[in-house]
Amino acid sequence: MNRKVLAAVCVVAGGLLLAACAPNATQSALEPAGDNAEKANNLFVPVFWVAVAIFVIVEGALLFFAIRYRHRKGRDTIPPQVHGNTRLEIAWTILPAVILAGVAVPTVATIFELARDPGPDALEVTVLGHQWWWEFDYPEEGVNVPNELHVPTGRPVLLTMCAVGVGYENQPAPSECQGDNPVPLTLGNSVIHSFWAPELFGTQDVFPTYARTLTFAADEPGVYEGQCKEFCGLSHAYMRFVVVAHAPAEFEQWVADQQRPAGSLEGAAAEGLRVFLEAGPAGCTECHSVNGLEDANGEMIRGSIDAPNLSHFASRACFAGCILENTDENLRRWLADPPAMKPGSLMPDYELTSEEIDQLIAFLNTLE
Ligand code: CUA
Repeated sequence: MNRKVLAAVCVVAGGLLLAACAPNATQSALEPAGDNAEKANNLFVPVFWVAVAIFVIVEGALLFFAIRYRHRKGRDTIPPQVHGNTRLEIAWTILPAVILAGVAVPTVATIFELARDPGPDALEVTVLGHQWWWEFDYPEEGVNVPNELHVPTGRPVLLTMCAVGVGYENQPAPSECQGDNPVPLTLGNSVIHSFWAPELFGTQDVFPTYARTLTFAADEPGVYEGQCKEFCGLSHAYMRFVVVAHAPAEFEQWVADQQRPAGSLEGAAAEGLRVFLEAGPAGCTECHSVNGLEDANGEMIRGSIDAPNLSHFASRACFAGCILENTDENLRRWLADPPAMKPGSLMPDYELTSEEIDQLIAFLNTLE
């Protein structure tokens, strides 16, 4: 290899290595903040160092022999050729088998530990994977939120997860996704997703046909980032979420806040409600629900296609699969042309005027 090529390879390799360094890395499985991630990390660290030791010994020996016995000028004879050494072959078969058996013991134990039933005190949340956003339903509490999984610290959380597709109706509720029950295929043309917040838990694939469970608990209050980890279509990279861990009392407060009806409407917000009900062919309510929003007959307005429930929208930190921080500026960009920001998004471009967008934002801001 000539020097220039070698230098180029070193620069590229060094660049890639440095690109892996981030002072603000928010999704590191190496910094566990909950029991599930802790167990996985406790398994990873010793196995990693065993692998490092083996790598150093094997590659070291390889390099040593390659250099020590390399071809030298003036040596034309071929050294003695050795074929077969029974003792050596038995040794290098048994040794790896022993090492693998040693690694298997804690691995299998951890698998069983992670699958353990968290008991009746666990907070139960149903997680539905849509293309491309996550829905979190709290059946006991009667709360349904997109993109943000709120949990209390120190209490086990039992997630029951399914993937759902277009055509899946918001009613009856996500109760279809329970235990090991097969989810009716009528739930639509759904695809496999994978749910992962590295600081809190390992990945769990989310399937269209069967419910899967995952248990974790967060140690400290905080916001933990997560995202879909299985390629699931055009906007897979835009299928993010956050886990918001609250101190127990604050979690109760959050639940109470989500349960009360959404805010009052005045001025631009009232106009925004009109746009919300009338935009496009059938209004935003063709897909989105807002708890407490009623039509002229006092019937609750419910989206018929399963889009994020917008109740208490103003209290959310992010939206659109958690790719955008919840600010007026981002809402303006989003509402102007959703598919431009999230390719394949089911949210259509209704060609709203900028006045209508401002009114809609005023309306959404009342949904505290
Ligand atoms: Cu859902 Cu990738």
